[in-house]
Amino acid sequence: MEKSQMMELFEKAKVASKNSYSPYSKFPVGAALLMEDGSVVTGANIENRSFGLSNCAERSAVFTALSAGYRTFKALAIATPKADYPVGPCGACRQVLTEFAPAGTPVCFGASEDNMVFTTLGELYPYDSLHELGSDT
Ligand code: THU
Repeated sequence: MEKSQMMELFEKAKVASKNSYSPYSKFPVGAALLMEDGSVVTGANIENRSFGLSNCAERSAVFTALSAGYRTFKALAIATPKADYPVGPCGACRQVLTEFAPAGTPVCFGASEDNMVFTTLGELYPYDSLHELGSDT
């Protein structure tokens, strides 16, 4: 995957972060998934006054994509525009993301274009020993 393509995806994640509902943390996050057919599905973090019910941007995007009929994705970008350093996905999201894409899937995350991390799902979630129990769909 070209870096320019990842940066395009990152721009979409940034736009998605504008729909974040995060009155408690005041920390908007946007995620953008590139699908196999070239379309992009986005998500934002949605918080709740019962804090434990909050949903991260990454899972919002994955659940939206799955609900629309997609079953896998080709790349992921995450934008945390209020942070002063790149914020990677939480542990729960890493587990969910690896259900739907292979270890080599490119991932980038950052606060802005000039402060980005480029990695893969496999680096974010190594020793994924339960992967072989996953479904083939
Ligand atoms: N959050 C995400 O949406 N994705 C991440 O990768 C890190 C954290 C959200 C959860 C919560 O709404 C807020 O950011 C602060 O943790």
